[in-house]
Amino acid sequence: MVTTIEEKLRKRADLGHPICALTAYDYPTARLMDEAGIDLILVGDSLGMMVLGHEDTTGVTMEMMEHHTAACRRGVKQAVLLADLPYHCYETPEQALENARRLMAVGADAVKLEGGTEMLPQIDAIIGDGIPLIGHIGMLPQHVREEGGYKKKGKTPEQADRLLRDAQDLECSGVKAIVLESMVASVATEITEAVGVPTIGIGASKNCDGQILVVHDLLGSFPWFRPSFATPRADLASETTRAVQEYIAAVTEY
Ligand code: KIV
Repeated sequence: MVTTIEEKLRKRADLGHPICALTAYDYPTARLMDEAGIDLILVGDSLGMMVLGHEDTTGVTMEMMEHHTAACRRGVKQAVLLADLPYHCYETPEQALENARRLMAVGADAVKLEGGTEMLPQIDAIIGDGIPLIGHIGMLPQHVREEGGYKKKGKTPEQADRLLRDAQDLECSGVKAIVLESMVASVATEITEAVGVPTIGIGASKNCDGQILVVHDLLGSFPWFRPSFATPRADLASETTRAVQEYIAAVTEY
């Protein structure tokens, strides 16, 4: 039975449950999540920070995204596999389309880019080519340097109106879903009620149609930074330290 992205990503009321999404960057993690029944796996450009040790996502390249998307593809059978277009890789409609095709060629089911109304030419080029696209508005990690930090969005009426317009424009352009990142909960709720495509929140509102989390924040495997909105459900950092120390002790006693 073939299930389309439209069937897998629907509004919460229509789907009967919220969309459950996580990031992954490698084969075993993606495979475990897929087998556990996750709806959507994002090969996020958070790869740069969580896996490659960069300070932010701005240094992530197309080659890195292709490498990790291909690895995840080998482990994913049922979930939607979404891949991020990295920073500076969708500056023009032509570049956006070329790079979206590259991510699809290594196995992505859909691509994601950051931005609202100002990205419509790029979005039209990608969707016009038949490539499923997911939008991403609110706090945009790729703009952290211009903005001087990670700042929650939707705090003023002007920002809230702009976010709603962005979401409506994305919906009209034909996106399959919209990620709402780090925004005032009432704004995320209003957007979710106003648009016909599902919203997937991260640090936004529990009223979104789904939630997404960086896998390290779920598993407690990145102890150096833990976002306040994430609830870790394991402590792999401590487990790793314990196992390594146990191994050192065992080898030392040989
Ligand atoms: O790259 C990423 O992990 C993301 C999520 C924060 C949505 O875009």
